[in-house]
Parts: sequence; structure tokens; C-alpha cells
Amino acid sequence: MENQNPKIFIPGHKRMVGLPIWRLLEEKGNSKLIGRSSRELDLRKQCAVTRFFEQEKPEIVIDSAAKVGAIWANQEYPYTLLMENLQIQNNLIEASHHFGCENLYF
Ligand SMILES: NC(=O)c1ccc[n+]([C@@H]2O[C@H](COP(=O)([O-])OP(=O)(O)OC[C@H]3O[C@@H](n4cnc5c(N)ncnc54)[C@H](OP(=O)(O)O)[C@@H]3O)[C@@H](O)[C@H]2O)c1
Repeated sequence: MENQNPKIFIPGHKRMVGLPIWRLLEEKGNSKLIGRSSRELDLRKQCAVTRFFEQEKPEIVIDSAAKVGAIWANQEYPYTLLMENLQIQNNLIEASHHFGCENLYF
């Protein structure tokens, strides 16, 4: 039978996109939601992300974390925004693959 209460990691869980996802899943009765602030887990750091997946072994990842800027920031800091977001995504993709998490949503 399909797992009705999977362990779900929601990067960016306290902010604009992640928080409503967290609340919706909580309302639906999921009791195994995992969230970390960027201070607790900097997703740009591959070693930290690997260690986190090793410990927590999430079954589902819903990525809503990103370095976000307005039009001004995108024009002013294109390299920083692009690189940080690629680092975040790549680390999540790599760790999900490595630790057998088959459901990664972006
Ligand atoms: N808002 C919208 O209307 C909208 C619409 C479509 C798509 N999106 C996309 O959805 C994503 C999130 O947008 P948002 O509006 O929710 O942004 P946001 O409110 O600025 O939230 C960004 C989240 O990402 C986390 N984060 C950033 N850098 C991190 C890092 N190095 N390590 C760990 N966590 C990190 C932040 O954590 P901390 O707060 O702990 O630092 C925060 O929770 C972006 O890709 C955006 O383009 C947003």
C-alpha cells in the first residue's frame, strides 16, 4: 500500500512559496514534514546537504528554496543569483539521487 505519511523535506518552508505547501500538507495530516532555515542548512554546501540526507533520508523533496531578487537584483547580480540557485538545485538533485529519494519536485 502507498505510504500515506511520507517523510517530506520542504526547503524554503517558511517563506512565500514553501510555507503554503507546508501548511497544506500539515492540514492533510502529514506529520513527517522536515524544514530547515538557510542558517540551519545552507543548501549551497554540498557536504552539509549530503550529511542532512544521510541523517534524515527524506522520501519526497519539494524544493521551494532559492536566492530570489527583484528585477534590480537580477540585473545587478546575475552571476550570484544564477550560481547560488544552480548550487542549491544541483545539491538537492545529487543528494536525492544518491540516497534513493525518487520524488523531487521543483
Ligand atoms: N513568490 C512567487 O510568487 C513565485 C512564483 C513563482 C515561482 N517562484 C519561485 O519559487 C522559489 C521561491 O520563491 P519565494 O518567493 O518563496 O522566495 P523567498 O520568499 O525569498 O524564500 C526563499 C527561501 O529560500 C531559502 N533559501 C535561500 N537560499 C538558501 C540557501 N542557501 N540554503 C537554504 N535555504 C535557502 C530561504 O531560507 P531562509 O529564509 O531561511 O534564508 C527562504 O526560505 C523561487 O525559485 C522563485 O523563483 C516564486
